Amino acid sequence: MQALMCHAWGPIDQLRVEEVADPHPGPGQAVVDVHAASVNFPDALIVQGSYQVKPALPFSPGAELAGVVREVAADVTHVKPGDRVIAFPGYGAFAQRCLVEAARLMPLPAEMDFDTGASFMLTYGTSIHGLRTIGKLQAGETLLVLGAAGGVGLAAIEIARAMGANVIAGASSDQRLELCRAHGAQTTINYSTEDLRARIDELTARRGVDMVYDPVGGSLAETALRATAWRGRYLVVGFAAGEIPKIALNLALLRERAILGVFWGDAMRREPALLKNDIKTLVGWFQEGKIRPDIQERVGLAGAADAIARMANRQVIGKVVVLPQS
Ligand SMILES: NC(=O)c1ccc[n+]([C@@H]2O[C@H](COP(=O)([O-])OP(=O)(O)OC[C@H]3O[C@@H](n4cnc5c(N)ncnc54)[C@H](OP(=O)(O)O)[C@@H]3O)[C@@H](O)[C@H]2O)c1
Repeated sequence: MQALMCHAWGPIDQLRVEEVADPHPGPGQAVVDVHAASVNFPDALIVQGSYQVKPALPFSPGAELAGVVREVAADVTHVKPGDRVIAFPGYGAFAQRCLVEAARLMPLPAEMDFDTGASFMLTYGTSIHGLRTIGKLQAGETLLVLGAAGGVGLAAIEIARAMGANVIAGASSDQRLELCRAHGAQTTINYSTEDLRARIDELTARRGVDMVYDPVGGSLAETALRATAWRGRYLVVGFAAGEIPKIALNLALLRERAILGVFWGDAMRREPALLKNDIKTLVGWFQEGKIRPDIQERVGLAGAADAIARMANRQVIGKVVVLPQS
C-alpha cells in the first residue's frame, strides 16, 4: 500500500509517500481502508518530535480517519469487514490502510460522508470536551474564541452556539473572520489590526468575557485572560503560536478566575465513556444542522506533507482532508 512515511524527527518536507507492507490485525485490532483522513495541527508536531506522543520510527502521521473495515482479528466481534467507521488512531491515517484498536472504532453516521467523518472527532471532540465538561459553559454566557478560523476554533464557535452561548471570534484576517461569522460568531475581532483588550471591553461594555477558548497561546494569552469577567474561565487548549505563555498567578486570584487545562486525547483514553457521550451529542447536532466541518480543500497522499507544512505556517483555514485512495 501507499503511505506518507516519517523516518526521522525533523522538518515536514522530509516526509515521503512510499510503498510499504500492508498491516495485518493482531489481537483486538482491525485494519481499515482509509477513505479520508483530515489534517490537524498535532500532525505537524508529531513528525518533528515535539508532540506528547512519540511513535516508534518509521511511522505514518495522520491522527483521524473515516473508512471501511477491511479485516479484523479473530477476537473482534463488534465490528466486521464492510462496516463504515470513524477512528482516532493518533497516527497512521495518512496511508491507504490503517491499523486501529478495534475498541476505538465508532460507526460513521449514515448521513455523514467520509470527508466529513474524518474531520469530526478531534476538533469537535476537543471543543465539546473543553467547553462542556471542563469549562461548564452556560447558555447566555459570552465566549471569546482565539484562532477562531482554525480547526478547533470553528468547532468551538459552533458548539458554543449550539449550547446557547454568545461568541466573539478572534482571528488574524478579515477573510478568516468572515468564515467565523458564517459558522455562527455574532461579533469578531481582527487581532492583527485591532487592540484585543479594547475591543473586548467595547463588546462587553467593560464587563469582560465569561470564558476564553485559547488554542493559540503566545502574546494573546495574557491579554485574553485579563479580559475575563468575575469568575471567568480560561481554557488552555494549545500553543499554535509556538510560545507557551508564562502567566502570573495573581491574575487567577484577581476576579477569582480559573485557568483550566484541556487535553482531549488523554481524557478520552482515561474516560472512554465521556468520548461516546460527546460523540452522541455531536452527531445529534450534526443531524439538526447545528454543526458542520468546514472542508476547504481535498488533497491526495502526495499533497499531504505540503498541507501539514501549510498548517504549521498559519496558511490553512478550516479543514484540509487527505484522500489516500485517490
Ligand atoms: N488540548 C487538546 O486536547 C488539543 C486538541 C486538538 C488540538 N490542540 C491544539 O490546538 C491548536 C490548534 O489546532 P488546530 O487543529 O485548530 O490548528 P489550526 O487549524 O492550524 O488553527 C490554529 C490557529 O492558530 C492561529 N495561529 C496563531 N499563530 C500561529 C502560528 N504561528 N502558526 C500557526 N497558527 C497560528 C491561526 O489563526 P490566526 O492566523 O487567525 O491567528 C490558526 O488558524 C494546536 O496547538 C493543537 O496542537 C489541542
